[in-house]
Amino acid sequence: MSEPLIHPDIAKAHTLPSRFYTEKESFHNLLDEMRDCWYFAAHSSQFAEHNVIPLIDIEEMLGEALILTKSDKIRCLSNVCTHRGMLVATESSNSNTLQCKYHGRTFGMDGCMKNMPEFQDVEGFPSASDDLPRFPVTEWKGLQLVGGDRYLKEAITELESRLEWLDVDSYNHDKSRFRSYEIEANWALYVDNYLEGFHIPFVHGDLHGVLDSNEYRTELFEGGVLQIGIAKEGEPHFEPPATSSEYGEKVAAYYYWFYPGLMLNFYPWGLSVNQVIPLSVDRTRIVYHGYVGNPEMLGKGAGGDLDKVEMEDQEIVEGTQRGVSSKSYDRGRYSPKMERGVHHFHRIMTHNQ
Ligand code: FES
Ligand SMILES: [Fe+2]
Repeated sequence: MSEPLIHPDIAKAHTLPSRFYTEKESFHNLLDEMRDCWYFAAHSSQFAEHNVIPLIDIEEMLGEALILTKSDKIRCLSNVCTHRGMLVATESSNSNTLQCKYHGRTFGMDGCMKNMPEFQDVEGFPSASDDLPRFPVTEWKGLQLVGGDRYLKEAITELESRLEWLDVDSYNHDKSRFRSYEIEANWALYVDNYLEGFHIPFVHGDLHGVLDSNEYRTELFEGGVLQIGIAKEGEPHFEPPATSSEYGEKVAAYYYWFYPGLMLNFYPWGLSVNQVIPLSVDRTRIVYHGYVGNPEMLGKGAGGDLDKVEMEDQEIVEGTQRGVSSKSYDRGRYSPKMERGVHHFHRIMTHNQ
């Protein structure tokens, strides 16, 4: 067997070749591969406002238009009208039925076709194929997860064993924390940057001031990486219970990344969800959703000024895109102490290369 592209021993490994960040073919091959991954769709607090939620981010990542509906239970349905293919819902709403605005076909909240004007003479109508196709939804503490099941079990096991004590169900969606940015860089460069705290002292002066860099650590699991930031003296932190592996430690943040582009950042104030959405080989959308558990902790500590940290990261990532596009650069080496998360990501990305 030939050597894997990314050597499993980080001390021997070279980083990802630059073509993965710059070539359209590599980009599209990877995108096809990601179709069997799971994705974050919504938090249950969003249903307080709307019971029909089109999953716009997921449509971009998965190439499949979906909606979540809530009636007797939460369902994930195709958002494509079974008549001639118009989107059923183009924005979030509150309703008892789903009506396509093109020719008025209506569906129940479970996706069953209910009514269609001018179809009296159509033979064999309606049939099961006139209903909206259904897709599985998995829930962890109010987080609604859809898509494929690659690494899903591993993700739930990890979250459950680590954060079983955290009351994520009770968090509330805070619309004012929504952000959407488009950056001129490949999506994987954004993920690379997220997966190491190595750059924090160099890039994020304020964040560096609240985290204890000697205690910062990275843990790997199948399909993801967890980084744990420990608070400096006097900075806000969680108090994990005796059952937790972090019992007695001042955890400032749990930074979770799940392949390919989902980040769940747990702070004492609540949860910041970041989605990394590949748009083209050198354009990426970054979307933030905020869910607040402890409003009095907002604006403090490691999760305090996320906008500033984001701007600092974007500048670096866009600069790196320009760098790796130069012919003189192909690949580098990893720090075994600081870049285990990046190495793990590159191994997942290239597992069948
Ligand atoms: S496309 Fe929906 S009713 Fe015609
Ligand atoms: Fe950063």
